[in-house]
Amino acid sequence: MLTLSDYFTSSSHHQPRIAAVVGCYNNLMALSWHMPISKSPFRYAIGVRDENMTHSLLLEHRSCTLNFLPFSYYEEIDLFGKEHGGDKLSKTTLHATRRDKNNNVILDESDMVFVGDVIDTYQNGDHTIFIIQINETYINHDKPAQNVLFFGQGRYATLGDTVRASKK
Ligand SMILES: Cc1cc2nc3c(=O)[nH]c(=O)nc-3n(C[C@H](O)[C@H](O)[C@H](O)COP(=O)(O)O)c2cc1C
Repeated sequence: MLTLSDYFTSSSHHQPRIAAVVGCYNNLMALSWHMPISKSPFRYAIGVRDENMTHSLLLEHRSCTLNFLPFSYYEEIDLFGKEHGGDKLSKTTLHATRRDKNNNVILDESDMVFVGDVIDTYQNGDHTIFIIQINETYINHDKPAQNVLFFGQGRYATLGDTVRASKK
């Protein structure tokens, strides 16, 4: 049985999470603590630690993009999750030729992008939950999405075949 501290320090999390990248103004941050919380209106919750630059940027700009990159960019995602602020984008091969209406960075190579406004915050621990009202989505229908699963400690994987359960 794993202890609580083993869970966070072990070489693999037992609950891999899909890695995304938060774009807030010019900054990019790797994010795996996120989930949809309402379908209509479409709302999303993201958990951001208060020591991260993205935390203060979200409070200031009250909006962001959520970029879901293909698996081949796991090194770039990892870089966005190691550095605090600065020009992270220029250290990668990624492009950001567009901005949303609030001037938040959008990554061209994304399989999917959500664009939204911060409409609420909730703090209960060392991460703040930002509730995002998603106003626009961009999906690249040209190729199937290759989700990036994050296991912690720099470990990544992607999914195998998609199957559909039989109808009873
Ligand atoms: C794959 C991955 C997922 C991460 N998920 C989160 C997360 O959900 N919330 C968070 O606050 N930090 C998360 N981090 C850590 C931040 O990305 C990291 O502290 C980053 O350097 C903060 O950047 P910033 O200071 O420029 O905002 C994650 C890191 C990685 C590598």
